[in-house]
Amino acid sequence: MNNENRKLRIALTKGRLEKDTVNLLEKMGYDCSAVKDKGRKLILPVGDTIEVVLAKAADVITYVEHGVCDMGVVGKDTIMEMNGKFFEVADLGFGRCKFALAGKKGVDFYQGYNVKTIATKYPNVSRTFFEKKGMDVEIVKIEGSVELAPLLNLSDAIVDIVETGTTLKENGLEVFEDIAPISARLIVNMVSLKLRKQEIEELISAIETNLK
Ligand code: PRP
Repeated sequence: MNNENRKLRIALTKGRLEKDTVNLLEKMGYDCSAVKDKGRKLILPVGDTIEVVLAKAADVITYVEHGVCDMGVVGKDTIMEMNGKFFEVADLGFGRCKFALAGKKGVDFYQGYNVKTIATKYPNVSRTFFEKKGMDVEIVKIEGSVELAPLLNLSDAIVDIVETGTTLKENGLEVFEDIAPISARLIVNMVSLKLRKQEIEELISAIETNLK
């Protein structure tokens, strides 16, 4: 599925990471006007040598794993949740936030022996976190606004992304424990890195130079 003749294809996470990635590519000297003025188009040229694919975070990983995109820009949160077979080659430094265990302010989460219920969009990250502690928990998958779950007494706590902490604060919640730092990462398909080694390594090195 890897085609050496086509342009280098980069899957880019739509939304929060999009602007920072475009800024980085522009700083590297690439013409990103097509991406900035994209309308509803999903595949766009960046300079003459790169093609950008705009996708949801989890799909960025799927496209890179399958080799239909050579590289991808995606948050460490999605990487930790999905795992997958690809190389993670650079920390891009933007999109910084963290995974945290949080719940109602003042609650002693670890008190008592009852099995705790955890609401989260990230069941794998949550399972791994509590497995390491040797703690048995019940995990409930929530699709968004996870902070609602403890407020509605569906769960004892949440495992979620905290960026500024505003959502927690405005809803009477607080961080109980930090789980892991998050930022945007550059990932590369394993076969692409072999077949287009020079091209990809040059791009990675140009990216690293422009991160400084
Ligand atoms: C994320 C996360 C928190 C919020 C944290 O949600 O799930 O709810 O951002 O940001 P803060 O610490 O700066 O307040 P997102 O906005 O992606 O939407 P969602 O709740 O629908 O997942």
